[in-house]
Amino acid sequence: MPKHPLIAGNWKMHGLREAIPEVLAIDAASRSARASVAIFPPSTLLCPMREALADSPVRLGGQDCHTEPLGAFTGDLSAEMLKDAGADMVILGHSERRHGHKEACEGVAAKTRAALRAGLEPIICIGETLDQRQEGLTHAVLSKQLRDSLPETLEGQTFHVAYEPVWAIGTGHVPTDDQVVDAMLLIQKHLAKRFHNQVVPHTLYGGSVKPDNARHLLTLDGVDGLLVGGASLKAADFNRIIAAAD
Ligand code: 13P
Repeated sequence: MPKHPLIAGNWKMHGLREAIPEVLAIDAASRSARASVAIFPPSTLLCPMREALADSPVRLGGQDCHTEPLGAFTGDLSAEMLKDAGADMVILGHSERRHGHKEACEGVAAKTRAALRAGLEPIICIGETLDQRQEGLTHAVLSKQLRDSLPETLEGQTFHVAYEPVWAIGTGHVPTDDQVVDAMLLIQKHLAKRFHNQVVPHTLYGGSVKPDNARHLLTLDGVDGLLVGGASLKAADFNRIIAAAD
C-alpha cells in the first residue's frame, strides 16, 4: 500500500497566539485529507496549539532541539521539553540552522539521537547551496550530509529526510523535475542501503512549495511529502497544498 504523503508546515519564526485560528482551519481540512499533516510552529506556540488541537490528526513538532536532556544551556530547549510541550516530531539540520547557526552534520546527528531518546520523530534536512550546485558538488554534498547527519541509531526508528536546496528556500526558484528526482533517488538509495526500517522513511521536498506547484511536485519520483515554509502560514494556502495530495 502506498504511504500517505506527509505535508509538513515549518512556520519558522512566525506566529503569535492570534495565529491559532489558522491551525484550527488546517485541522478542519486535515480531517478528510489523504495526507498526514504536521505543523512546526515556534516553540512558544506548542502548548496552546496542542490544547487547541486536543483530538486532532494534525501532528506538532519543534524546529530544533539541544543534544542534552537538561542543563546549563541558556536559551536552548531539549527534545524532552518539546515533547512535554506537545511535540511529536522535530525538524533537525534545517539549512537556516546549518548556515545561520553554523551547525555541522555531526551536531545534527547528535540532535537526532536526542530526538529519538525523547520519543520525537525527526525530519532531517539536507540540501546544497547554489555555489555547490554550480560547481557540480550536489551529489557529494548530499551524500556527505546523509552519511554524517543520520546516526546509526535511526535503524528501526521512524524518521524522515527532507531535501531542501538552499537556493530554493524562500526564493520562488524551484529545481527542475530532473533535479528533484535525482536528489530524491540519491536519498532513497542511501536510506535503503543503510537502514532496514519497518516504517520506510518519507522523503520530502522543500523549497518554494506553493498551492500551484504542490500537486506536480507530489507526482515526481521519490517525492512522498512536502516541507512548506511561507505557504504554510495561512490555512487558505496550506489547505490547498494538503488537498493537492488527495
Ligand atoms: P519556503 O517554502 O518558504 O521556501 O521555505 C521552505 C523551508 O525552508 C521549509 O523548511
